[in-house]
Amino acid sequence: MNERKHTTGKPHSTPNPPRNRRVALALAAFAVVMLVAVVVFQHRETAERSSADGATATSERPLVGGPFTLVDQDGRTVTDKDYLGHYLLVYFGYTYCPDVCPTSLNRNLEALDLLGDKAKAVIPVFISVDPARDTPEKLRDYVGFFSPRLVALTGSPEQVAAAAKAYRVYFTKAPGPTPENYLIDHSSITYLMGPDGMFVQHFSHNATPEDMAKRLGEIVGG
Ligand code: NI
Repeated sequence: MNERKHTTGKPHSTPNPPRNRRVALALAAFAVVMLVAVVVFQHRETAERSSADGATATSERPLVGGPFTLVDQDGRTVTDKDYLGHYLLVYFGYTYCPDVCPTSLNRNLEALDLLGDKAKAVIPVFISVDPARDTPEKLRDYVGFFSPRLVALTGSPEQVAAAAKAYRVYFTKAPGPTPENYLIDHSSITYLMGPDGMFVQHFSHNATPEDMAKRLGEIVGG
């Protein structure tokens, strides 16, 4: 049976050099693409690991930041692209935060006050990690309490989670006095992003307004 099938069937497997060469070329091209993909992936992995360690010795910029879609305090949907051309001081937190967030935000705003005219190039951004309670209205009140300079962003839980992930910001719910008054543990790092949307440097919670203003003055320029 098998024998006859082979000998009488259409010679569909007859070698056809030009076609085989095309297939071989296509396979080779595919292999190159895969190789590049693997190298790029490993490169990203390495960069992620080094920045997760907090290493600053590397000359590569850590992969902090990236595309986001969120909602501002006026209810407008905004993306990272809307802020290109400005330096951003990005801080993640939540309006119910009893102390760390207000302290960090006040410090960032004070640094900008010290920066004087150069501060025009910098937008302080507060991104909520508590979208369930931080509605745009709530954020508008919060901004009013701090400074009209401040841009406050929230979004759907998915949008907020994606933005936090892009900035490697950790946050998790923690019990508060009552179930509705829960707290959120979160990282308290402020990220300086460049006009090209790329990470420039971070400021720890312990940086003083003077430290920040000095550094920003060097970076932002006249
Ligand atoms: Ni906080």
